[in-house]
Amino acid sequence: MSSKQFDVIVIGGGPGGYIAAIRAAQLGFATACIDEWKNEKGGPAPGGTCTNVGCIPSKALLQSSEHFDHAGHAFADHGIGLKDLSIDVTKMLGRKDTVVKQNNDGILYLFKKNKVTFFHGRGSFARTTEAGYEIKVTGTAEEVIVGKHVIVATGSNPRALPGAPFDEQSILSNDGALRIPAVPKKLGLIGAGVIGLEMGSVWRRLGAEVTVLEALPAFLGAVDEQIAKEAQKAFVKQGLKIELGVKIAEVKTSKKGVSVAYANAKGEPQTLEVDKLIVSIGRVPNTNGLNAEAVGLKLDERGAIVVDDDCRTNLPRVWAVGDVVRGPMLAHKAEEEGVAVAERIAGQHGHVNFNTIPWVIYTSPEIAWVGQTEQQLKAAGRAYKAGTFPFMANGRARALGDTTGMVKFLADAKTDEILGVHIVGPMASELIAEAVVAMEFKASSEDIARICHAHPSLSEATKEAALAVDKRTLNF
Ligand code: FAD
Ligand code: NAI
Repeated sequence: MSSKQFDVIVIGGGPGGYIAAIRAAQLGFATACIDEWKNEKGGPAPGGTCTNVGCIPSKALLQSSEHFDHAGHAFADHGIGLKDLSIDVTKMLGRKDTVVKQNNDGILYLFKKNKVTFFHGRGSFARTTEAGYEIKVTGTAEEVIVGKHVIVATGSNPRALPGAPFDEQSILSNDGALRIPAVPKKLGLIGAGVIGLEMGSVWRRLGAEVTVLEALPAFLGAVDEQIAKEAQKAFVKQGLKIELGVKIAEVKTSKKGVSVAYANAKGEPQTLEVDKLIVSIGRVPNTNGLNAEAVGLKLDERGAIVVDDDCRTNLPRVWAVGDVVRGPMLAHKAEEEGVAVAERIAGQHGHVNFNTIPWVIYTSPEIAWVGQTEQQLKAAGRAYKAGTFPFMANGRARALGDTTGMVKFLADAKTDEILGVHIVGPMASELIAEAVVAMEFKASSEDIARICHAHPSLSEATKEAALAVDKRTLNF
């Protein structure tokens, strides 16, 4: 076995890891990235959960199913007639796989372009030496490499329900949920969080009867209440059955499908019989096979790597980023941390502003927000002003035929600084970017209200919501 020396070794090639590796290489460090994800042929598939079984494939299926939904429902309003509409699930899944592969290949190309040495295999800590940390690579690549700095970006795994392990045939994690071979007649989901709503939407649009069971009494508890209520109304209208406040008792599989015994919000025993069950009750940090004990890398009780605000672990020159550490499990949060760590290694002042990390749920209507919710401001006793503007009053939304939802601004009562922006409606994922920029620059709602926005555009709803903070909307 050879023993190659690197300035920076990144373990994990998801959005946290591959971006950290590229940035480190850009800064002139001899950089390696180790990732173990395999494609169907056993070849490398860098990009992690996000690229392989997360952000990218879910958005591909959301797009396909939205086209199908529009063709079946919205086209008629535009005078477009269609006969014999059908969905070829195999083709839809094949397209999704192609999109994933394009992203995998793109990352391998970026590694080459930036001179990052890629190892396909599992990286684990072996020991500490004078030259740095010895990392053993096993799998397609078998090597021992040494890194002066190590960035751990090993991501997360889906959390299973106790007593109901994923078999990916009947009880599905996000992985199985993205490759159901035919539209199930009845689909159950446990957990009305981000995955539950996105995957539930995909299969409902394609014709499945979808029931979502959620433990909490409130729908989307982390989302601004007014926005969550509006979204819930829209989902229920679309036919998504959402039961809140349930307690799951037992999950049984048989040849016929899956049976879920649970108590409803009133405590009454119920049974849900479905063909497939997706369990989306959160994710757990992944340090499997990392051999953290060999070097004394500290984990917390959830199994997350303990880091400070700057992603430093308890070990000198060992850093950790992304889903394997505290904070929201989002690809862009992982990327920001990856860049900041590479820059800190170079002696620069990388920075991640947790207050301006946007969230997006890619349902229809989309839900997006940045900053604080109204309930958080109330709980903190902060004096604020609110302004909302409905898409119903926006010309572009009417032309699109998509007028559900609103934009909502929350601003400091005295200084008018924007404290949070919440959107439910068309293209919320794109509209939220303006709010993120505004908050990064500490803008006031008046700043946004004074900026010229193109007409007709959905972004005018953003401007109008900012005007609404001062009770002076022009179009509502
Ligand atoms: P990961 O992406 O999990 O990557 C970790 C990588 O490390 C993996 O490739 C793994 O194989 C590898 N690895 C682990 N251990 C080792 C080891 N010892 N040696 C070598 N390699 C190892 N976030 C968003 O921001 N937007 C979205 O739209 C979105 N959609 C999602 C949809 C779904 C269905 C799911 C499940 C998640 C979604 N997320 C989304 C969350 C997002 O995928 C994660 O936050 C993101 O992937 C975290 O990046 P990461 O680099 O920390 O970890
Ligand atoms: P989540 O945390 O979003 O939602 C889990 C839901 O399950 C919660 O509402 C929780 O109350 C509920 N729950 C937990 N235990 C339960 C139980 N025993 N019975 C019934 N309900 C229960 O987690 P999810 O959907 O699994 O997604 C994991 C993470 O992946 C997200 O938090 C997010 O960070 C990331 N993600 C991001 C996406 C995006 O940015 N668009 C899309 C999908 C995932």
